[in-house]
Amino acid sequence: MTLFFHSLLLSLSLFLSSVPKFAVASGQLRKGYYSETCPEAEDVVRQVMRTAMAREARHAASVMRLQFHDCFVNGCDGSILLDDTPGMLGEKLALSNINSLRSFEVVDAIKEALELRCPGVVSCADIIIMASRDAVALSGGPTWDVKLGREDSLFASQADADRIMPSPRANASFLLSLFDQYNLSATDLVALSGSHSIGDGRCFSIVFRLYNQSGSGRPDPHLDPEFRAKLDTLCPRGGDGNVTGGLDATPARFDNQYFRDLVRLRGFLNSDQTLFSDDERTREVVRRYAEDERAFFDAFAQGMVKMGDIYFYRKGEIRKNCRIVNGRSAGI
Ligand code: HEM
Ligand SMILES: *[C@@H]1O[C@H](CO)[C@@H](O)[C@H](O)[C@H]1NC(C)=O
Ligand SMILES: *[C@@H]1O[C@H](CO)[C@@H](O)[C@H](O)[C@H]1NC(C)=O
Ligand SMILES: *[C@@H]1O[C@H](CO)[C@@H](O)[C@H](O)[C@H]1NC(C)=O
Ligand SMILES: *[C@@H]1O[C@H](CO)[C@@H](O)[C@H](O)[C@H]1NC(C)=O
Repeated sequence: MTLFFHSLLLSLSLFLSSVPKFAVASGQLRKGYYSETCPEAEDVVRQVMRTAMAREARHAASVMRLQFHDCFVNGCDGSILLDDTPGMLGEKLALSNINSLRSFEVVDAIKEALELRCPGVVSCADIIIMASRDAVALSGGPTWDVKLGREDSLFASQADADRIMPSPRANASFLLSLFDQYNLSATDLVALSGSHSIGDGRCFSIVFRLYNQSGSGRPDPHLDPEFRAKLDTLCPRGGDGNVTGGLDATPARFDNQYFRDLVRLRGFLNSDQTLFSDDERTREVVRRYAEDERAFFDAFAQGMVKMGDIYFYRKGEIRKNCRIVNGRSAGI
């Protein structure tokens, strides 16, 4: 069994080692997948999201981010939700995720509500896709039809997450080539980065650009001085890396404020500001979305569907508990 898993993981990581442009096997995903087997699935997901957001608006951002972190690492297969086991280092403690990804308990609450109504039917991977759509819609953003029918993975890979997930230090040309490997265009990259219209980031993710951009000993030159002074106060040198600030000026509302901020050099993350400041392929798109929220909303909805299409068919299951592969008990 262990050997089987090792060789599976090995061949998988060889396959993905350069994240090649792959033919995505998403053809069988479809709208209304649960219309016979669990017709109320989408309503249940939305209701639990609504309740969670009433408790804390940020759950919307934290849940929606899970779609990105799930889909980019071996496809949208719910692998991000698996807890570590003694035999498997999962993705939760990977560099980009540790002390950062959150709201797993909201996904658990959705799963519990669905298991009560239609046990063993709705995958955790599909829950992420539905809940992300609802998170955006309930934050004032666009809505879209989701394609469903994914199965949950039998394993997760911390090594793959570490290798693939981009750092907040990433520049535009790096991000363009990363997204291109998933057949996501410059427009998709900019639109999907607009997800940072909601939610927060930690000082840990920006202190390098406040005090030592690219090892220069200087701040990022593409920072409005007044905004930089605010960030310096929020995140003093040597301060608490876990303190958070809004990723844009209106972090509870899904709107185009994020792009308006970027054109004024008020982006929170380096990976955000670089889209306006460092590359003309993305700069024009940022400008367009800063002026036209409708255009942003349309492109965002399309980008989320495309990202949801990153999916490989391999033996999976419908997990009973999103944190654990079926047939194993917690912590084993
Ligand atoms: C383009 C490359 C991206 C990079 C480098 C990036 C990086 C980051 C970083 C560093 C944070 C803050 C984490 C922390 O400080 O704890 C963050 C937060 C967030 N990211 Fe991204 N991200 C990217 C793309 C995306 C995409 C495509 C989505 C979803 C479609 C997304 C959704 C979010 C959300 C919603 C938050 C806020 C989460 C919260 O408040 O809990 N990001 N991202
Ligand atoms: C990439 O996207 C284009 C346009 O959206 C589509 O026609 C093409 O089939 C996609 N290729 C893959 C490998 O998914
Ligand atoms: C962007 O980042 C990559 C990888 O970190 C680096 O090799 C490249 O030189 C950078 N490009 C620019 C234009 O700064
Ligand atoms: C800035 O970063 C460079 C390279 O990473 C490092 O050598 C230097 O010590 C850092 N300077 C400060 C003041 O932290
Ligand atoms: C943030 O908090 C976690 C858990 O409390 C701690 O382990 C970690 O070191 C802190 N991270 C930073 C960057 O301060």
